Amino acid sequence: MFVSENLGINEKGHLTAGGMDTVELAQQYGTPLYVMDEQVVRSTLRRFHDSINRFYDGKGSVHYASKAFSCMEMCRIVASEGDGLDAVSIGELYTALKAGFPMEKVGFHGNNKTDEELSFALETGVGHIIVDNISELHRLEKIAAEKNTVPHIMFRIKPGIDAHTHDFVKTGQIDSKFGFALETGEALAAVKEALACSNVKLTGVHCHIGSQIFDIAPFEEAARVMLGFIAEIKKETGYEITELNLGGGFGIKYLNEHDPVPFETYLEKVSAVVKEECSRLGIARPFIYIEPGRSVAAPAGITLYTVGARKEIPNIRTYISVDGGMADSPRYILYGSEYEAIVANKASQERSEKVTIAGKCCESGDLIGENMSLQHAESGDIIAVCATGAYNYSMSSNYNRLQKPAVVFINNGESRIAVKRETLDDIIRNDI
Ligand code: LLP
Repeated sequence: MFVSENLGINEKGHLTAGGMDTVELAQQYGTPLYVMDEQVVRSTLRRFHDSINRFYDGKGSVHYASKAFSCMEMCRIVASEGDGLDAVSIGELYTALKAGFPMEKVGFHGNNKTDEELSFALETGVGHIIVDNISELHRLEKIAAEKNTVPHIMFRIKPGIDAHTHDFVKTGQIDSKFGFALETGEALAAVKEALACSNVKLTGVHCHIGSQIFDIAPFEEAARVMLGFIAEIKKETGYEITELNLGGGFGIKYLNEHDPVPFETYLEKVSAVVKEECSRLGIARPFIYIEPGRSVAAPAGITLYTVGARKEIPNIRTYISVDGGMADSPRYILYGSEYEAIVANKASQERSEKVTIAGKCCESGDLIGENMSLQHAESGDIIAVCATGAYNYSMSSNYNRLQKPAVVFINNGESRIAVKRETLDDIIRNDI
């Protein structure tokens, strides 16, 4: 009925998430409000790691990409599932550390890590650092030598795959700021250099081909390209790479017409390709990592707003303005991303109109979406936007000096604040 499976309608005709009345959540915590269903996060993580157990004999790990949604509570949940974390900044590392996350299960990413970030990663004992470029290798080698340590590293490789996705989130092509190029020999030269370094240990290679990908073929192709590279390294240097990180990017359902491939199917097909290619190339089967972000966080989340103004412009459109907008939901203005919305207190009513849901920022493009099918919405109604758990809270801002909303986790009929709503004093906290 709705895009996210945890949503339903109760006897009052209200939208429920994880069985909880979303109108009551809005009343209890205020709006705008991010609501995350813990059970969805947990079951998605389990689907991923169970698939690795089933299709790849357990020789792999899930590293949740915390750029999709990071807060200490999310880190605790991921840790309690036994999964790892992909962190992409000192801020994400610090969040994990403070949440008590086992840092040896963290992979540290970034195309332009600072010395401060590299030092912090070494001091906190991250499991491995995914090195993006040659200057980073040199800086890391120096910092590691100073600290008398030998971090495990992977190299981020551009496999040159077109993943048929939105231009802004394609990261595997040749023209990309991320990683080492294969076809120019840059990647192999870097491997040779790393093998000569005494303060890094190269264990793996990494690729990430994009985000919100619906096809399996680009993932299979990326795995082939990466295994070919592992075989080439072995041939050229005699060195065996033992880890292959295949990144994230698994597509999810934002709209009813979206029909994503079940995560199990990705893992089944890609595992089969890895096994076949390893036999064909005569290399040992690597330990694999995957880094799902969106697929874990997005379906777990909804955002709740209160409707303020309703503005009908005859023959043009109807604007329904809500008490948030691009500051908490930046994906429409950034990517034109579409979402399903529901009037939570009228969820059992027919969706009788097509409207534009607008935010409250001083900017015409500040929209939640256009041409959205919605129940008749009036001032005071609660609107729920679905599948917003990824890349909304994590990309939120204080534009117009708006306070960031609270994040509430729900779990088996109970709710708890995971991130407090910002206060007005938070807004001026660093002002002098
Ligand atoms: N691993 C690496 C190295 C990545 O760069 C990313 C995402 C992921 C894993 C997780 O990918 P996911 O499973 O979430 O697709 N802000 C954009 C998405 C940017 C994704 C960047 N990298 C959006 O809102 O669509």
